[in-house]
Amino acid sequence: MNQSDEEKYWNGRFTAVGDDYLFGTEANKFVARQAERLQSGKTALSVADGEGRNSVWMAEEGLTVTAVEFSPIALHKAKRLAVERHVEVDFILADILKWDWPVAAYDAVLAVFIQFLSPLQRALIFAAMKNALRPGGLLLIHGYTPKQLEYKTGGPSNIDYLYTEALMRESFPDMEFLELREYEDNLQEGSGSQRHHSGRSALIDVVARKSS
Ligand SMILES: C[S@@+](CC[C@H](N)C(=O)[O-])C[C@H]1O[C@@H](n2cnc3c(N)ncnc32)[C@H](O)[C@@H]1O
Repeated sequence: MNQSDEEKYWNGRFTAVGDDYLFGTEANKFVARQAERLQSGKTALSVADGEGRNSVWMAEEGLTVTAVEFSPIALHKAKRLAVERHVEVDFILADILKWDWPVAAYDAVLAVFIQFLSPLQRALIFAAMKNALRPGGLLLIHGYTPKQLEYKTGGPSNIDYLYTEALMRESFPDMEFLELREYEDNLQEGSGSQRHHSGRSALIDVVARKSS
């Protein structure tokens, strides 16, 4: 898929659910588990943030949050969610593959289900995410592992786009892993017939600290 096809694809998915939220309005479970690490007053960037469930939750936790996302439809819903929850998020409409990424700017950089990237694109974005962290900052990544191809309950169908512990260690050799775990869980993200990321899922959590 070229970039404009990719944008059309995501806008189509977000439009198809009308005013509903494709992935729901509650923070992803991995993100919610990080509450103790994501302290109030810190800055955070949510990469390919979608409809705002994770950025808005971090803002509710007292963080100063920036969110970057290329779908205007998703961003519109994210802004609505922030208004409803009485928080502010700096929402940026941008393609993460073309964005002028900030450097050493955030205490935390979060990427949840950004497995639309080819291995080459992923390497570039992982490097940009790490560079965007301040020294001592936390990288938080959540996604699917290759076992997810058996479950077919969400995520890409191309094994090259899925994550393993080994891939994470290779991608971030100079970071300290506070969490690196492949596991299975039941996800129920989104609502009713619009539910996506639903059912038994093969997942990976990554929390890594950039050296000070
Ligand atoms: C599976 S969704 C996950 C959204 C969000 N992280 C969450 O967990 O709710 C992937 C998101 O990436 C966005 N996206 C895809 N390619 C992008 C790109 N090149 N730049 C910015 N956002 C992108 C899509 O529009 C979509 O919102």
